Order: sequence, then structure tokens, then C-alpha cells
Amino acid sequence: MIPQSFIQDLLARVDIVDIIDRHLPLKKSGANYFACCPFHGEKSPSFSVSPSKQFYHCFGCGVHGTAIGFLMEYSGLNFIEAVEELARQVGMSVPRDAPGDRAPARPPVQEGLYEIMAKAARHFRDQLKRAPAAIDYLKRRGLTGEVAARFGIGFAPDDWQTLRTVFPDYESGLLADAGLVIDHEGGRRYDRFRNRIMFPIQDRRGRVIAFGGRVLDGGEPKYLNSPETPLFEKGRELYGLVQAQQPIREAGYVLVVEGYMDVVALAQFGVGNAVATLGTATTPHHIATLLRQADRIVFCFDGDAAGRKAAWRALESSLESLRDDATLAFLFLPERHDPDSFVREQGADAFRQAAQSARPLAQFLLDELSTRCTLDTAEGRARLVHDARPLVTRVAAPLLRLQLVKSIAEAADFTQAEVEQAFGFKPQRAAAPAREATPRAGRRPASQQARRRPPSAVGTLLRLVLQYPGWAARLPVDLVPTDDAEGAALAAIVDAMSVGELEPNAGLGALVESFRETPHQAVLSKVAAELVGTEFDDAVAEPLFEDTLRKLHADALHAEIVALTDAERTSGLGSRDRHRLAQLLLERASLKK
Ligand code: UTP
Ligand code: MN
Repeated sequence: MIPQSFIQDLLARVDIVDIIDRHLPLKKSGANYFACCPFHGEKSPSFSVSPSKQFYHCFGCGVHGTAIGFLMEYSGLNFIEAVEELARQVGMSVPRDAPGDRAPARPPVQEGLYEIMAKAARHFRDQLKRAPAAIDYLKRRGLTGEVAARFGIGFAPDDWQTLRTVFPDYESGLLADAGLVIDHEGGRRYDRFRNRIMFPIQDRRGRVIAFGGRVLDGGEPKYLNSPETPLFEKGRELYGLVQAQQPIREAGYVLVVEGYMDVVALAQFGVGNAVATLGTATTPHHIATLLRQADRIVFCFDGDAAGRKAAWRALESSLESLRDDATLAFLFLPERHDPDSFVREQGADAFRQAAQSARPLAQFLLDELSTRCTLDTAEGRARLVHDARPLVTRVAAPLLRLQLVKSIAEAADFTQAEVEQAFGFKPQRAAAPAREATPRAGRRPASQQARRRPPSAVGTLLRLVLQYPGWAARLPVDLVPTDDAEGAALAAIVDAMSVGELEPNAGLGALVESFRETPHQAVLSKVAAELVGTEFDDAVAEPLFEDTLRKLHADALHAEIVALTDAERTSGLGSRDRHRLAQLLLERASLKK
């Protein structure tokens, strides 16, 4: 919906080094800039940013992308938000295609709702200052004013229409859309939240999108939450994510707890890397969001039956998103505790220690399944394999899956091959691919992995064109074989250039960005990442380009000759083809000279 030309202009104006440096101080070394990678834990910097390529790449964990991609990954923005953010930084305003018939990315009503929520949050914070009983309640729960301010905690007074003081147009439909009022049958409208401590729920950009309100006494319900609104979809949001982002990076893992108060109390005690689901089960969407923040997630549940059930649902939600280089673990607190009471009683260090020794997902899965089967009978052991099947088959991460198979086989007293067969898996080859088999810490840098197999002729041309986009104009598009991903991407670049969709002097970042959401995105960004570390020498590039082009030409010639001679042998050639073949043979002869 944002015109491609705007994105190209935008990327021509921003410098990825500045953009990243704002979030992550970079140090120059040689042609590139470096930092410790924000996306995985490391002690020596392998995250590198190339100013000439306008592309970043971490040689440790392989993440890579453009300035837009960085903001999406690092700040958790979606594409449009990242473009808006960049545009704001260079003072451009984002135009939209065809504003008439197509819906704009964010309808104006939504903009209005954000304003309303911000205003309401301010109102609740102001009201807290005037409510000694509420302040007293928070103090009794051990919160300082500082932490209350960090989370924007407020108070909704015990009255029917206090929002009228900040929204003179109290009857506006927007207030209902925002979920702040309830319309009663008689036509009367009242504030939804009354006499409650107010916890604003913020999205990843810090905008208030909903509230959770807690009663001061034993009233029901204990927590009242905003309904789902155009701004708020429960299963997508995590309470406290904005406040937790920095601490998550520092701690290297994210804690997931159940309650608002758990997040706030942990932060009060210096454990800032916690977020909470909003009175819902953990969804796959939550897991995906969290795995973008850290590669270790520790779920912390109460030690009661409800906690175990919630943990199991979190496990089920995560199976598809599991990765071999990420760990999920489950911490069960002693029966009478929740994270809030635990950290209060035992302190932050004890809590961190418990989080450290949380039970890994594979073990939790096996433990849970085992308690449901009587493993000392043959039937019970068979049932274990049977019950595990629908879960394990959802795991795509190869090593984790292998590990699960092995531990299930062992517990059920089967061989690994028998379990694999029962699960309908293909038998494992002798060894898993080296890349995945190497533990994370000792993982081979991505650049080295790529170097193991030299690029094909097409691959070489693609790499050269990515370094010198203008050279695409020199490539006859018919010559580019498109039967592999690199060839197809190269042909797409040549096409885009020839119809003027791509500027010949667009940087590499802009070029890759122009293929976002196309089938070529993955291969282009992979190759671009590789180029961040390995440049072609300018002096070598030109002859290499010419040579490779000649080779491609010779290959094409050869292929056509083979096809025609084959046809000649089997069915004979028409006069036209015979003529063509003679011409090709001549051409080949002249090439050899
Ligand atoms: P808990 O009942 O465990 O509350 O609910 P808590 O976080 O320990 O709260 P305190 O310590 O009593 O103040 C956990 C979460 O479940 C949701 C809320 O998101 C809450 O934080 N919940 C609970 C509701 O949405 N409504 C309720 O009535 C109760
Ligand atoms: Mn509690």
C-alpha cells in the first residue's frame, strides 16, 4: 500500500549505520561497523553493518536485513510501522497508494482510539494522586511510586461517569469503541472501570491499547479487562513488553508470568524481564513475538493444577515455532506461591536461580505424558508413544524432534527407529546436517557455511549484481536460467531494472527491500547478508562478471546444441532447426578460439 518508489527514496535518504547506532552503539572496524548482536547472547561482536551495502548481518546467529528489517526485528514493529518510523526520523511523510477505494493501512478511527486511550490513561494516573486509599493499597503491595509510574498505573474513581470530565463528548461512539464505557439498557452510559487500580496495556510501541483494572477489596471480578476493540486483541498482546524489552536483552531471556501484579512486582524487585499474557492461554502468536525478543523463554506458572494446565497449553502453542537454537523452559513455583509472592518472600536472586533451573520443554513434555500412562505395563508404554505422536509431529526443529523421539523411545522401552516408524517419520540418515548438529555457542559463522559450496555461475552473477546493481542492465535476461532460486531472483532483478522499477544505482538494501513479500525475498536477503562479510574486489569484479557471462552463454549454447542433436537423432530436424544447429555449432567453434 505504500508506493515502492517511496520506500526506495526513503532508503536512499537514511543510513542504516545511523539507524542501528541509535539503538545499539556501533564501532567501526575496516569497512564495516560492529556490535554485540542484540538478537543472541554473545561476548565478542559478530553483528556487522555495512554502510556500502546498507545491510546488516550477524555472523554468529545469521540474522540479517535492511534498515527497515532491523526496526521490525529489534523494535517489534510491522512493516508499515517500521517505514513510518524511518520516515519520521528523516522528516518524510508516508504517502499511500490510491487513498480513494482501498482502505488505508490504519483507519482514522483507530488513530482516534489511540488518542482516547492515551487521554484516559492520563486521567487514571491523575486520579491515583488524589486517591489515598488506592495509593495505600499499592504501597501495601510493596510498590514504589517509581515502579507505579514506569507502568503508568492509575486509578478509576468510584463514580459512574468520571470520564465525562476528560471527554466532554461523553456520548461519542468512539468511547464505546474504545471499550471505556458500557451502555445500559435504559440508554444510560457509565464508565466501565470504577473503583479499580488501572493497569494500562501497551502495544510494542508503547501506545495504550487497553486496561486491566483490579478491585481494591475482595469484589468480583478481581480483574476487569477491556473488551476486544479495534486496538486490542488479547491473544496477541503481552502485558509489560515495552518495559521489559531492555531487561530481556540484558538477561538474555524472557519470563512469562500470568498476572499484571506478577510483572510489576518482579520489576519492583529488579527482575524486569517479565511479561504476562492477559488472562488468556499463551497463543502461538505470543510465542512468535517472544522468540523475536530472546532465544530463551521461561514460563512461570503457579504450582497448582491450574498452573500445570496453563503450562501445558503454552507447550502446545509453542510446538510449531520451536527452533533448535531456542530453549523453552517451565518453572513451577511452590504450590502456595505466584511470582509476586515468591519474589517478595525469597528475593530476586532466588527467583532468578529458579528461572535458571526451570524444566526444559522436552523434559516437561515427557514428564507430563508419563504421569498419564502407567509405564510399568506394556500397554502404558505403548500409550505413551501414541499420546506423544500428535505433539512430536508438530515440532519442525530437527534436533529437538530427534531429542524428543529419543527420550520417548527410552521411556517407553522402544528403539528410536520403532518410535520414528510409529510417528510416520522417515528413517534418519547417518548424521544430522553439521550446521544443526553444532551447538549454538560453537556454531560455524554463517559466512563460512556459505563458503563451503562455491556459487554457481548464476550465483556469481547474482552476487555481482547485488554489489553493482547497475550491471543488471548488462545481463541478457534470456540467458539467466531460472530453474533455481538464485537464477529466478537474478532474472527478477534484471526484469525490474529493465522496466524502471529499480534504480540502477539503488543501494543493495533498497534492492532487497523492493523484493519484500515476493518469492525472491529469502534468497536475496540471504545472499546480501553473505556479502556484508565478503566483498568482491573491484579490480576482480569486472573480469569475473565478463567471464561468468561468457560461461553462461557457453552453457546455454551447449544445452541447445545437445537438445537439437538429440532431436535430430530421434525424430530428425526441420530445415529451420537444422539451420539453427549449424549456426550454434559455428558459434561454439568461434568461442573456443
Ligand atoms: P490471578 O488471580 O493469579 O491474579 O490472575 P494475580 O495476578 O495474582 O493478582 P493479585 O496478586 O491477586 O492482584 C492472573 C491473571 O489472570 C487475569 C489477570 O490478567 C490476572 O493478572 N484475571 C484474573 C482476569 O482477567 N480476571 C480475573 O477476575 C482474575
Ligand atoms: Mn498474585
